[in-house]
Amino acid sequence: MDRSYLTLALSKGRLADQALELLEAAGIDCRAARVESRRLILEDPDAKLRFIMAKPADVPTYVEYGAADLGVVGKDTLLEEGRQLYEVLNLGFGACRLCVCGPEALQGRLDRIPNKRVATKYPRVARDFFELKKRESVEIIRLNGSVELAPLVGLAEVIVDIVESGRTLKENGLAVLETIAPVSARMVVNRVSMKMKADRIAPLLAAVRAELEVRRSRTEERRHDR
Ligand code: PRP
Repeated sequence: MDRSYLTLALSKGRLADQALELLEAAGIDCRAARVESRRLILEDPDAKLRFIMAKPADVPTYVEYGAADLGVVGKDTLLEEGRQLYEVLNLGFGACRLCVCGPEALQGRLDRIPNKRVATKYPRVARDFFELKKRESVEIIRLNGSVELAPLVGLAEVIVDIVESGRTLKENGLAVLETIAPVSARMVVNRVSMKMKADRIAPLLAAVRAELEVRRSRTEERRHDR
């Protein structure tokens, strides 16, 4: 790997598209990453910029170990992975929330169910919430997706998952019982790169920050006009 490159890890999927859109609006040439391809490393040799396409849950790992200098990843993944890195910018998009959800009948009664089984893709988040915050002992059941199924078939009483529109919950007769944390995409930076590649990283962060400011004031103006 050529160390003179700046390497950015993107979360394959929706977040990657929105991240590229933001970077381009901030004046960063991302054409190399726009090429239709199955390649996982996309490079712009002139700009010495490299994009790596990772599974969302792995982005913090690449950044912590310095295989990527920067990354764009959801706050839910950061909370679950608990990696050593700098979280430098809230990018705003990918907004949703981490919640405890379950059958509508449990609304307002979450604390009254002893020894709950909690199905989730986020075992660390779930454990921190129930055991550290609520001081309650629970059984965590790790699943890999379609977590809403668990309370429907009696695998668990409740789930910890992200809720975006709320449609999946509604269509399965489930509801939010408690909100754990708001979630959105974040820019993260490797701790060594932040110092060693400051000449490249600082201007990039400044450009993205300026674009976020423009977006924020546009949203404010729209709110005023209404
Ligand atoms: C996510 C999440 C919920 C759903 C929430 O699942 O785990 O199931 O989206 O979105 P909504 O509130 O807009 O309905 P994803 O689509 O990532 O698939 P998965 O269940 O296989 O993880």
